[in-house]
Amino acid sequence: MINNLVNKITSALEFFGSEQTLDMVQYTLLRDSLDSRYLKKDSDFFSPGQLRRKEISDLKVDYVFENAVLTVKLILPNALFISWSTENSSEQVLDFSSGFKEGVKINVTQEDFSTTIWNDFMRIIVMDNGDLIINDSAGNFLRKDSAPLFRKQGYSQKLEIRKESAIMGFGEKAFPLNLRGRRLKLWNRDADGRYGPGADPLYVNSPVYLDGTASSIFMTFHENTSEAFFRIGEDEPNTIEMDFSGGNDRYYVIFGSIEDIYLSYGKITGFPNLPPVWSLGFHQSRWGYMTSSQIEEIANGFIDNDFPVSAIHMDIDYMDGFRIFTFDRTRFPDIREMAANLKSKGIRLVTIIDPGIKWDPEYFMYKEGIDGKRFVQTPEGDTLKAPVWPGLSAFPDFSSEDVQKWWGQKYDFMLDSGISGFWHDMNEPAAFVLWGENTLPLSSVHRKGSHRSVHNVYGYFMGKAAHDSLSRDPERERPFILSRAGFAGQQKYTWFWTGDTDSSWDELRQTIFSALGMSLSGFPYIGSDIGGFWGEPSPELFTRWFQMAAFMPFFRTHSGKDFRPREPWQFGQPYLDILRNAAKTRYRLMPYIYSAFYQSHKSGQPVMRPLFWMDHSLINSSDAEEFLLGENLLVAPVTKEGLESITVTLPGCGWYDFHDPSVFHKEPMITMPLTLERIPVFVKEGSIIPTLHDNRLHIGIYLPHSDSEFTFTMYSDDSKNSSTSRLDHFYGKLSSGELHLSWRRDGEYDFQYSAVVVEIFGAPVTAISVDSDGKAASNVVEVSSPFNEMQAKIG
Ligand code: GLC
Repeated sequence: MINNLVNKITSALEFFGSEQTLDMVQYTLLRDSLDSRYLKKDSDFFSPGQLRRKEISDLKVDYVFENAVLTVKLILPNALFISWSTENSSEQVLDFSSGFKEGVKINVTQEDFSTTIWNDFMRIIVMDNGDLIINDSAGNFLRKDSAPLFRKQGYSQKLEIRKESAIMGFGEKAFPLNLRGRRLKLWNRDADGRYGPGADPLYVNSPVYLDGTASSIFMTFHENTSEAFFRIGEDEPNTIEMDFSGGNDRYYVIFGSIEDIYLSYGKITGFPNLPPVWSLGFHQSRWGYMTSSQIEEIANGFIDNDFPVSAIHMDIDYMDGFRIFTFDRTRFPDIREMAANLKSKGIRLVTIIDPGIKWDPEYFMYKEGIDGKRFVQTPEGDTLKAPVWPGLSAFPDFSSEDVQKWWGQKYDFMLDSGISGFWHDMNEPAAFVLWGENTLPLSSVHRKGSHRSVHNVYGYFMGKAAHDSLSRDPERERPFILSRAGFAGQQKYTWFWTGDTDSSWDELRQTIFSALGMSLSGFPYIGSDIGGFWGEPSPELFTRWFQMAAFMPFFRTHSGKDFRPREPWQFGQPYLDILRNAAKTRYRLMPYIYSAFYQSHKSGQPVMRPLFWMDHSLINSSDAEEFLLGENLLVAPVTKEGLESITVTLPGCGWYDFHDPSVFHKEPMITMPLTLERIPVFVKEGSIIPTLHDNRLHIGIYLPHSDSEFTFTMYSDDSKNSSTSRLDHFYGKLSSGELHLSWRRDGEYDFQYSAVVVEIFGAPVTAISVDSDGKAASNVVEVSSPFNEMQAKIG
């Protein structure tokens, strides 16, 4: 303990200097003193007590117990809403249920010691002691939720789960995908510069999880933003034991197919925002780009090396003394000109935005914050100050709508300066401390409650503030906001990356599961710092990470300040060519990837998916390293050094080798040789994949191996807030060796493509006909197929 403290002080002195270290000592002491005096002490547990009466109506049942009321209702036909209230119930920090005014009719059957609430999705038996047995509509057991035990603040509850079910979700977790056997803390936390597998908690925590077996799957979302602990089969194998340190016990249980589940979760918490198309390209970042000329040099490096890049990120160094919404005018004399110059080369600028506002009476943000009482307060009514990058700083209270508006408008200055995207960092919020929790005192005060209950949604409200302001002008591009911290529902506002990862092979592998876990938690836009944030990857590790990230939703290189630069050319040959190839493949796939994001935006489904999405019997293979990108691509990352061959699971059907579609695999598992050149990627048979080749759109048809029909909907738009968009519906039918492809267009957005080529892979077809609504295929110039006897006819 003492040693630990001495180490922390020594490294703080080295990194920050004596003034900042002293601030850290003082703040850490202040935090402890405030919390010991003002944090409410908890009471003993109490149970709901005896059932007094049941109030049954068409839309809900209220069970009135001695000490609590349990309400059970449906908010959607497949979504159950369960809420317990007691005399200690607090105001909800987030309340998604209030959006469902109408309610859904329920069927209720009364028995001697229970009531059954049922419909086509579920049979819920509510026992008179407050226990709840959740069955599917056929009466198969899914879970038993014991009645909670309440305290003055918070509660604990125990759930009995099926012995074979996998539990997945909870936001960002550095564990295998199946979280059975784990103890989780849900508390958004800065990992203090680095983390690897097993670290918990991390930056994004969300009490939402899937419980799935090969035969059925359902989702639970606890609508509670307070700190929580979940023990998943940790003490007793088939239980989930949870403890929330505040908030109300209310939760949603969502049933149906996996598609039904994500659709309803989207209806409840919000659908993922559609990113502007440029943000799906490659992003180059590094902590330590200090001047305009350095950034211009990097941009030219990409151009000279014929390496595609869509954005360069500017870390904290662009600011004047780390003051948010300022630029250091000596090192960045004309940011607007630089941004315009880069934009003309197709490169956007993204700036980091931290919430902490420097404690400086001359600084406009500080003055406006104080004047408008916009900062988080101590319980004694003072403005709270805690050290972060700028030194002692105040923290906007984003839970207040007034503060959201004030803060949101500040992005106008950044847009006017030519900045295209924003990167919300340190928004757990993080504070620099020497021991204990590295955040604000739990007793500090926000408009919507104490820090204890608002902490986990600090990043959510900061994201909302930026998003709402940046989307208000219909003529502007849709916002790009990347966030480190997050909570359920934030998919409406921001995208995510996995924070300060270690640069190691173990962490590369972990990234797959963390990103899949985020995806299953309803956050589809996720990626990691390629090569890991902390450390210096070998060229091989960097290359494998880059190749994997090229098929993940967010594709960015970033690293800590003192590490060797990682622009792709720094690694020399043959790496540069290999990396360029991976990046160009990503850009070729852009129409496919953008369409996958559109589908996610409409359906709530993730873009990056675990293999069990295709074959539920794989649900317990939580260490499978392969993942799906959208509906039709399977990616097999290489996670070990020097690997010469790889075994890949190919679920459900036959798969084409994406890199060489003349190779087709029918076996459910294959072993293939590896080279450094690329990682294995496969295309599902019966798929349509649109790709871009020097501004020509290729419609790749990967034929099914037996007669069948297949479809793909391609989305394109101008990326504006009021977007003009277009859907191209492709419909393929293979019947007795003849392929018919029809193409229907919906929407006014004009293709920017110079030509359209239909490419056919797979079994020989003797004839092809393409028909369309005229407009759609007017610029098809070519139909190509490896089969000579094929006759092409374009209608
Ligand atoms: C945090 C971020 C990291 C950033 C650094 C400096 O550690 O997670 O991405 O580079 O702060 O701003």
